[in-house]
Amino acid sequence: MNAALDTAEVKVPEYGVYDVDAIRADFPALSLEINGYPIAFLDSGASAQKPDVVIERMNQAYRGEYANVHRGAYSLSQKATDNYEEARTKVARFVNAKSDDEIIFTRNVTAAINLVSHSYGRAFLNEGDEIIISHMEHHANIVPWQLLRDETGIVIKVVPIDDVGNFLMEEYKNQLGPKTKLVAVTQVSNVLGTVVPIKEVIDLAHAAGAKVLIDGAQGIVHSPVDVQALDVDLYAFTGHKLYGPSGIGVLYGKIDILNAMSPYQGGGDMIENVTFEKTTYRDAPARFEAGTPPIVEAVGLSAAIDYVNSVGLDNIARHEQALLAYATERLRGLDGLTIYGQAENKAAIVSFTLEGVHPHDIGTIIDSRGVAVRAGHHCAQPLMDRFGIAAMARASMAMYSNKDDIDALVDALNYVKEIFG
Ligand code: ALA
Repeated sequence: MNAALDTAEVKVPEYGVYDVDAIRADFPALSLEINGYPIAFLDSGASAQKPDVVIERMNQAYRGEYANVHRGAYSLSQKATDNYEEARTKVARFVNAKSDDEIIFTRNVTAAINLVSHSYGRAFLNEGDEIIISHMEHHANIVPWQLLRDETGIVIKVVPIDDVGNFLMEEYKNQLGPKTKLVAVTQVSNVLGTVVPIKEVIDLAHAAGAKVLIDGAQGIVHSPVDVQALDVDLYAFTGHKLYGPSGIGVLYGKIDILNAMSPYQGGGDMIENVTFEKTTYRDAPARFEAGTPPIVEAVGLSAAIDYVNSVGLDNIARHEQALLAYATERLRGLDGLTIYGQAENKAAIVSFTLEGVHPHDIGTIIDSRGVAVRAGHHCAQPLMDRFGIAAMARASMAMYSNKDDIDALVDALNYVKEIFG
């Protein structure tokens, strides 16, 4: 590997001397100017920016290490295959899976959950079986279950939340029962930032005889995940929120569950033997990776994991928590601003409305000051309904976010207030 790409060169911050400026210098997009202002990028919950090591590593893979994988006897294909499988090993270690075979590469979390609803659903869920989700789910963890319900007659139960966004554990306990086959909940709400106590959710589900799928899209970027310690059955996350490329996601699954699940998409690489009469399928992970996979995206994800490890998810979490406290305090100081989601345990996401201003107008006007936030229903319409509104603005932070970003947001919101009188 090119020495310039050696992630060991990334400055490792220690708590107390977290060098956010050094980290920011690794992310080229953070030097952009937008509408004449330095960018204040506060939409990492939608997709994080990428460090140079990820961009350069992918560039290098396309330039000198690219061919299709698992198909060629020639050196270049072997190199590409090694890279792809090394990325799988990297991911397995990152989440502490028992085996590389428990890591399936998908397109993103949406694809991972659709895979589970299709393949776990076909193998294990029948009419009258119950699955439990929560009121905070992203559409990606609602709609696939509704599609399955319409096909099979399963029953979907929804755990409510309180007014500040806490997952109501007692209600969950009451919903669990002998018919519960699967619990599918988010680790962190993409809107409220609520950190769901997933270990407790998992233990209770197991005691009731149910399996658990965790949507880790927003979770794994804010704190370390150990799938064995959690004893989680299925866990999904995506590369693009973890400072890696878009187009690659991960489904972790316990190997016995994966190998009992029906195939998902049919095609090349997932078969043992095909005749016109009968086809047999390979075990995981190949069973679920039909067709040419995200080859260079896997290499980019691997580099992103190296980068995240070099900074340390615990360090990132502490930095983000300090920034969340600062952002919450500053935003609370704005008249007419309402924050949605103040759960006891919360990740660095702040959603809000401003009296008399549509969130889309907030998004557009503060963009004129270089501030990037997401505005809308955040792919969580049932959650918007829970709070009786159609949309919110959302500032979501990452390892590279700093106080200047928050100050720029507050200044820009004051500008919005001026415009709207
Ligand atoms: N799920 C992503 C978000 O919350 C896109 O913005």
